[in-house]
Amino acid sequence: MTNTGRHMSTKFIYFFGALGGLLFGYDTGVISGAMLFINKELNIAAGSFANGFITASVLLGAILGAAIIGPLSDRLGRKKLLLTAAVIFFVGAMGSGFAPEYYVLVSSRILLGVAVGAASALIPTYLAELAPAEKRGGIGTLFQLMIMTGIFLAYVSNEWLSPQGMFGLSSAVGWRWMLGLAAVPAAILFFGGLFLPESPRFLVKKGQVDEAHKVLLQINPNEKAVEEELHDIKLQAQIPSGGFKELFGHMSRPVLIMAIGLAIFQQVMGCNTVLYYAPTIFISAGFSEHFALQSHIIIGIFNVVVTAIAVMIMDKIDRKKMLTFGAIGMGVSLFVMSAAMLVLKAGGGNLGSWICVIALTLYIAFFSATWGPVMWVMIGEAFPLNIRGLGNSFGAVVNWTANFAVSQSFPMLLIAFTPAHAANAEGQGIAKLFLIYGALCFAAIWFIAKYTIETRNRSLESIEADLRSQAHAKGYTEEGEPTSTKPLSN
Ligand code: BGC
Repeated sequence: MTNTGRHMSTKFIYFFGALGGLLFGYDTGVISGAMLFINKELNIAAGSFANGFITASVLLGAILGAAIIGPLSDRLGRKKLLLTAAVIFFVGAMGSGFAPEYYVLVSSRILLGVAVGAASALIPTYLAELAPAEKRGGIGTLFQLMIMTGIFLAYVSNEWLSPQGMFGLSSAVGWRWMLGLAAVPAAILFFGGLFLPESPRFLVKKGQVDEAHKVLLQINPNEKAVEEELHDIKLQAQIPSGGFKELFGHMSRPVLIMAIGLAIFQQVMGCNTVLYYAPTIFISAGFSEHFALQSHIIIGIFNVVVTAIAVMIMDKIDRKKMLTFGAIGMGVSLFVMSAAMLVLKAGGGNLGSWICVIALTLYIAFFSATWGPVMWVMIGEAFPLNIRGLGNSFGAVVNWTANFAVSQSFPMLLIAFTPAHAANAEGQGIAKLFLIYGALCFAAIWFIAKYTIETRNRSLESIEADLRSQAHAKGYTEEGEPTSTKPLSN
């Protein structure tokens, strides 16, 4: 194969490897716009349980999908499951688009959620296992880039397919197209996925060393580096596959705590509320509805651009530094935004409104460049090979559960924090809530310093070797069993 051919195929592999992220972003992002019309068409009262459940169903499905994929992925491999997820994406999208009534719609949304959750647990592992160590962060960030692109496309389709949009569709039909269109990238993912290689780490684990060698060479033409990598993978693959005992055992405990913490903090710092409530925030800050909706699209483009920059810098800066920097930036932006919104009550005027817009945009930029991608990259690379699928799936379950908790509690907290009689009452409520998310950003800095390990520019095998030797030093065997019968302290 020529160099150019090799280069092309690497791009193909990474593109299709990460493409599930686009469906993740589209399917979670599209509902806010579609909801406006679904309520009318299916006779659902705004603000009712049934209404909230249309959004929540994807999140619940995602928790389920992320949970079932872990044990399967260590047994069946990453590729087969990615193809299965593509089929579920397709069926879920068609089911949502053609849903004749409410229950078909929510069942299809749960199904879609299963695929979203599965993709979120599979793709970071798959990309981490394919990429050479020195490029792993950037390649892992392609997943986030796809998520952001998916969210952006969802905003665009919400705008174009609404009755006022460029296609002038009726309100009875537009939302069906919004939801159903996700079947197109699902089909592309399936057909592209057929040509993807299986993860070389998984192949070695299954004894297919020659095949693994071929895949590694396709990705990294440096024969000597590939030989060394294969040697290390083979050593690690001799360790028997693990289960929950190993996941919760002493050896993997440091990375388990890291994954749980990163997954929770990524959500409780408020990323999804800021993203989805951006138009409401703009309106509360005194801008027109038109400005708010237009700027949502502009923020969508901005997100994609910032994440694309993150792809380029991800392997040049330590992951821990990026997380700390991101948490400071997000925390300060939230505090500034809150202050501006509270001052608006006292007649902060135009300047306050613009400070709000700038702080919100900066918050999203900090998130997109740091916590958005780094969380997924790190949980994809941190766990030892014999429980990698399981560990990543566990991290994804925690992330989706935290996402669910934050999205479900937001409207209730907003009511609780909104003063009964005040000009711009909702803005006041949002401002107070953002102070809490801001404080949690600073708590995240403490967590990073205390509980995370640096993974940049290290082979997956060296990260794993360190975990084993640390466990050994604390008096545990390589498999995490105590070396003596004496009780051990942590
Ligand atoms: C987060 C999602 C979020 C998305 C876009 C991901 O990294 O896990 O919860 O919706 O980024 O902001």
